[in-house]
Amino acid sequence: MNWSQDKIAAFRQTLLAWYDAEKRDLPWRRDQEPYHILISETMLQQTQVATVIPYYERFLTQFPTVEALAAASEAAVLKAWEGLGYYSRARNLQKAAKQLVADHGGRWPETAAELRTLSGIGPYTAGAIASIAFNQVEPAIDGNAFRVFARLFCVPDDIAQPKSRAVFDTLIRQVIDPKRPGDFNQAIMDLGSSYMSAKDADPAHSPVAAFDESYQTGRVYDFPVKTKKPRPKKVPYFALVLHSPAGYLMVQRPSTGMLANLWMFPLVAREELEGTTLPAQLAEAAAQFGASAGVTPQLAVSDYPLVRHTFTHQQWQLTLVTAETAAFDLAFLPGRWVPAAEFDQLALPTVQKKLLAACQGGAS
Ligand code: ADE
Repeated sequence: MNWSQDKIAAFRQTLLAWYDAEKRDLPWRRDQEPYHILISETMLQQTQVATVIPYYERFLTQFPTVEALAAASEAAVLKAWEGLGYYSRARNLQKAAKQLVADHGGRWPETAAELRTLSGIGPYTAGAIASIAFNQVEPAIDGNAFRVFARLFCVPDDIAQPKSRAVFDTLIRQVIDPKRPGDFNQAIMDLGSSYMSAKDADPAHSPVAAFDESYQTGRVYDFPVKTKKPRPKKVPYFALVLHSPAGYLMVQRPSTGMLANLWMFPLVAREELEGTTLPAQLAEAAAQFGASAGVTPQLAVSDYPLVRHTFTHQQWQLTLVTAETAAFDLAFLPGRWVPAAEFDQLALPTVQKKLLAACQGGAS
């Protein structure tokens, strides 16, 4: 870090003047309630601002206080989160609310270190809440902050490496405005999603162009340095669309792992062994399902399209198969027969909505 104290002061002044004039009007910027900051910052991880806004408004209407969230049913919380993805975020939020009520008597801890003892609150969210709600001089290092500071200082460290966080933490602590840390962090976020964005940056018109070493040296897109993650692994499944006079078979996913506790058609891992045919694979899947359900329905390969859904580390490739059956006993499955008209009462992940869309007409 080679900036003088004068240059640091000039940067803070320039950045905050720009923020005061140009900051985005976002619903979570209207007050400094820590609960509001927790909800928005949790939603904003891995999800874009435009998507988050209506979820944020609805969530706070439904769960206006920490106490209301702590007292809600998990099903209601998951339903409010439906479509946002990364559902463990929602479960952790509720756990954090319960912790606040039980362990802190509803009073918020104000330091980043204490905030991190709450469920689901990592260094980023702790820094965001501490700085925005409590004026603590803490960086909030998300992808925006990594990118902005990597460009400003041409930081060579690979941001995909966990140990790089400490490098950025040290750097940002030298530059953050001690009087307005929350605004400073949010100004960095706004820069990172506009003039210093990942793909269509406009560094020439940036308010901090004069401070941007990557721009001054013609290397904007060389930063941040980030090694590529491996591609999501393809995981094939059969998705069983079993229809009976009582409705469709929906099962609740296990309480741990991906899409925990959400409702889907039953999935059976598809063993794509070399030399096996689709009908042979399906027979194997039916036998597997039969072993868990206690009943082996006759399945047939449908002409429905393959449905793909990509998560961070996996791409599910779902082949839909359909069968009409009797409403067999579900004692062996965490499932229910659900009439199509009642689907919207369950928390359905986006992948399940894709399956429903793909079998529309067949599944009415
Ligand atoms: N991205 C993450 N947190 C944000 C915030 N508080 N404002 C705008 N974008 C964000």
